[in-house]
Amino acid sequence: MRLIVRQDHEEVASYVAYYVKERINQFQPTQERPFVLGLATGSSPILVYHKLVDFYAAGQVSFEHVVTFNTDEYVGLPKDHPQSYHTFMWNHLFKHVNIKKANVHILDGNASNLDEECRKFEAEIAKLGGIELFLGGIGPDGHIAFNEPGSSLTSRTRVKTLAYETIIANARFFGGDISRVPKLALTVGVATVMDAREVMVVITGAHKSLALAKCVEEGVNHMWTVSAIQMHPKGLIVCDEDATLELHVKTVKYFKSIEHVHHSIIGPHNLGLQGNLLRNMVDTNQAAKRRRRLMLQSLLNNDDEKSEEEDEEKKAAAAAVEEAGKKRKRSNSTYWEETSAALDVNP
Ligand code: GLP
Repeated sequence: MRLIVRQDHEEVASYVAYYVKERINQFQPTQERPFVLGLATGSSPILVYHKLVDFYAAGQVSFEHVVTFNTDEYVGLPKDHPQSYHTFMWNHLFKHVNIKKANVHILDGNASNLDEECRKFEAEIAKLGGIELFLGGIGPDGHIAFNEPGSSLTSRTRVKTLAYETIIANARFFGGDISRVPKLALTVGVATVMDAREVMVVITGAHKSLALAKCVEEGVNHMWTVSAIQMHPKGLIVCDEDATLELHVKTVKYFKSIEHVHHSIIGPHNLGLQGNLLRNMVDTNQAAKRRRRLMLQSLLNNDDEKSEEEDEEKKAAAAAVEEAGKKRKRSNSTYWEETSAALDVNP
């Protein structure tokens, strides 16, 4: 599991939005092979969605062949209620991008047969070959989607009673009145999320620091359902400094040091988005040294007796080496500028 720590909510959102954009683009989705994306609601991903909308507006990503599945929805709340997750998703993301309505999947909390609705949702995910990237969020009690403490870690999409703590936490969206917060929800299960080929969880704020510590430093436990991410082969948590308050300083330094090794020692140009090593790795230092040696040699060998032709050849060769180096440097630095702007790391 990777843990990426950023200064604040804004930087977390930049990282996550850039990551989602790049994953979609690298996948090169088509009508026949769409990119299947799991999405969450709540205040944590709002800024991510706004940044994705900006990327879309700038022509840097298209949602034409993206299919989405949302984590959850309240039971009994009309679809067009300002606090329904339908309204949330359309307002913050879908209506601003070129996603096809038929490609959006949000559970219907008003379905006449809720169990059937949940079964259909799972079947639809399976039909598309599973979810490529699941972007999740958590509640302060460590629930992922609406998988409250004690939920089975092998759970699937189903009806769930909300925990009292969640009702209190979400009352802020219902004028602070807990009686107006729905008490039931439909939610994907822990296993539905963990079946995705990649899981990315956004955790921000001091109020989620205990959940983050339980998830990262303690064992897999159904009382903190997000901890199931420990079992995932491609789990990624992106958090802000506030959310690390309950972690040991040693833990935070450890995860930061991995990122440092990646960027300063291995080099960002040698790494894929998911932290994987790219083939044909370039040792930046070695290449630069070799270029300097060649240039020096060509200067020292500058013999007046040699023909002008030879000189020209040497110059051309040195210039070609120089240009190749510059080119590579340029492409590295473009990559680096883009990456470091989004990932906020210093060259
Ligand atoms: C609700 C949703 C979760 C979401 C959580 C986070 O409980 N059901 O899917 O992850 O809110 O909310 P926030 O980001 O507002 O803290």
